[in-house]
Amino acid sequence: MSNYPTLPLEGFEEYPVETMRARLEDFYAEVSRRRTVRDFSPRPVPRDIIELALRAANTAPSGANLQPWHFVVVSAPDIKRRIREAAELEEREFYAHRASPEWLAALEPLGTNSDKPFLETAPYLIAIFLQKFGVLPDGRRVKHYYPTESTGLATGILITALHHAGLACLTHTPSPMKFLNEILGRPGSERPFLLLVVGYPADGAEVPDIDRKSLEDVTTFLDAPE
Ligand SMILES: Cc1cc2nc3c(=O)[nH]c(=O)nc-3n(C[C@H](O)[C@H](O)[C@H](O)COP(=O)(O)O)c2cc1C
Repeated sequence: MSNYPTLPLEGFEEYPVETMRARLEDFYAEVSRRRTVRDFSPRPVPRDIIELALRAANTAPSGANLQPWHFVVVSAPDIKRRIREAAELEEREFYAHRASPEWLAALEPLGTNSDKPFLETAPYLIAIFLQKFGVLPDGRRVKHYYPTESTGLATGILITALHHAGLACLTHTPSPMKFLNEILGRPGSERPFLLLVVGYPADGAEVPDIDRKSLEDVTTFLDAPE
């Protein structure tokens, strides 16, 4: 049993099966409209909207509840410019030398390249850091369990929350991303996980016409015999 004092499970809601179906159909319709946007409007977004989405992300389950993530929200133009310059430097290397032919072939249909104007145009960049371990005030380290899985889950909720609010995101992974620690003043115990570009799509923004795998392709059911 838990060493924590316990509470009644007040947040859980059960629904009739028909309501479950309707809720999930609505939810699917909403999340299936989400697309990665690469062309952003400079229109501002109120800061409390970003805070509300981050509050949702911070509810993610995490290994031993250690919440091994840190979000740095950047709207300052000079910092966005420094991030763009550093990211484009890495990306030029990536596209010219570091990426394998297979990787470049996988990216080709998406039309991505080393120019990243959205890093300055979009009103917000959210740099997500993964904490390999926690550091207590006296300097002792606290081991984090499953930090990658946990931070991925928090990021998924953040992307979904921002989409739910009517904002667009680009999940950006300049490779490598260590420059983010330096520019954003984060300690070496944190690994840059993703850079989320957040805002409104530019007028007339377009997205690649891609397919998603079918449910059958990605799922196996092992049912009890009838
Ligand atoms: C971990 C991860 C890293 C990604 N990195 C980049 C990136 O660096 N640049 C980019 O343009 N898109 C990036 N993407 C976006 C994917 O290309 C995009 O999610 C995929 O093509 C599916 O498109 P959709 O998000 O519109 O459904 C990344 C997505 C994920 C999940």
